Amino acid sequence: MAKTKTSHVCQSCGAVSARWQGRCESCGEWNTIVEEMVDSGVGAGPRSATAAGRPVQLVPLSGETESAARIETGLAELDRVTGGGFVMGSAVLVGGDPGIGKSTLLLQAGAALAERGKRVVYVSGEEAVAQIRLRAQRLGLGDRNVSLASETNVEIILATLQQGPAPHLVIIDSIQTLWTDRVDSAPGTVTQVRTSAQALTRFAKKSGAAVVLVGHVTKDGQIAGPRVVEHMVDAVLYFEGDASHTFRILRGVKNRYGATDEIGVFEMTTLGLQEVANPSALFLDQRDEGAAGSAVFAGMEGTRPVLCEIQALVAPSPLGTPRRAVVGWDSSRLSMVLAVLESRCGVRIGANDIYLNVAGGLKINEPAADLAVAAALISSLTGSPLPSDAVYFGEISLAGGVRPVVHASLRLREAQKLGFKSAVTGRLGAGDKANGIAVGEYSELAELVGRIAAKGQRAAAE
Ligand code: TYD
Ligand code: MG
Repeated sequence: MAKTKTSHVCQSCGAVSARWQGRCESCGEWNTIVEEMVDSGVGAGPRSATAAGRPVQLVPLSGETESAARIETGLAELDRVTGGGFVMGSAVLVGGDPGIGKSTLLLQAGAALAERGKRVVYVSGEEAVAQIRLRAQRLGLGDRNVSLASETNVEIILATLQQGPAPHLVIIDSIQTLWTDRVDSAPGTVTQVRTSAQALTRFAKKSGAAVVLVGHVTKDGQIAGPRVVEHMVDAVLYFEGDASHTFRILRGVKNRYGATDEIGVFEMTTLGLQEVANPSALFLDQRDEGAAGSAVFAGMEGTRPVLCEIQALVAPSPLGTPRRAVVGWDSSRLSMVLAVLESRCGVRIGANDIYLNVAGGLKINEPAADLAVAAALISSLTGSPLPSDAVYFGEISLAGGVRPVVHASLRLREAQKLGFKSAVTGRLGAGDKANGIAVGEYSELAELVGRIAAKGQRAAAE
């Protein structure tokens, strides 16, 4: 019998090493390397085609094109992220933490498409048919014409899908539960997941169906094991959110058929996921108007302006090393803003405990939030509330300057739509429009700090 070849594959990043090691040299994870049989069958590549050495016809770059056929689900927030609906013949990976609502979202999308007369197949490797039916009934979708199967073997799934007319949409929930008998590794290993995903991607291309693969994400934010799957599929969407809050964001991180800077916002309710057409209103819903330490940040999520509240609490610290706690923002960015306030604006703030919170569970990673954070900090330190009808945005430089940020007009228009009257930011560009908002332009952070602090002293004197 021929000796079976094995290789050692890291289950976290998919790197292959020659021998077993305790720690993966590629990603640094411990105890993730597993011995696997070398690929054969489905994942091993089209041997027959290369053996024949058939040349392909080379074509010029300029030439006839046809726009990709898409199927719109009618869930506007989902269609926005995919760039106008799922593309026929493409494979999409939807990743997210367990329990965030991936199955719910895709069941709703499938039901919506079935309503529009499309053939939809939902294959679950995690739930029994009865469980899926129960969920659909709870969502009020019990009567939709969606075909269900509870199966984890790729060959059986493919054989099932090839019966009858090709489906328009196939949902596979989840990719981690699949296994193929063409590979000898245990189910759930990188080789299994990669091979299964490859077979399903190939099915999508061949049959013209849109295939959606669901993938769970590990705690450090990677799609568990199959990072490799990300390279294989045409689009990768992440479903994010905080389990303790009800809103969820669907974010495009890769899209071969559209832009990746789109987000869709949903709210998890007892009736499933509801679309949120106006996220700013959701995030500003329960704002502490008139409280010191609260500033409204006019942010951007992809191409969409989103307003949210930033809350700061600056309190005298009994500790030698004051506490810093940040939720929803980068803590090293907070340290930078504090250092600029101390050394460029003469504000003595470093000896205090500082708590910073982005209300509603949103995570912000835009430098434009610097100015809103600085304003909230100074407001809390001086006990002077900021005007409740003002928004803040601008990047702070290490020299203490306020730098302009992109999309100022869009941010201002969103603020105007939600009834805000003024904005505090850096200098606007020549093409930026105020959109009916009174814009206070500051080029130095110290000026703004002076304004907020002076108001605090006035309030104290009164
Ligand atoms: P689910 O779609 O099963 O998550 P995933 O597939 O990403 O693991 O969602 C599970 C959570 O959603 C569960 O904790 C309950 C909640 N949920 C609701 O709040 N309302 C609903 O109508 C449904 C169906 C689920
Ligand atoms: Mg699920």
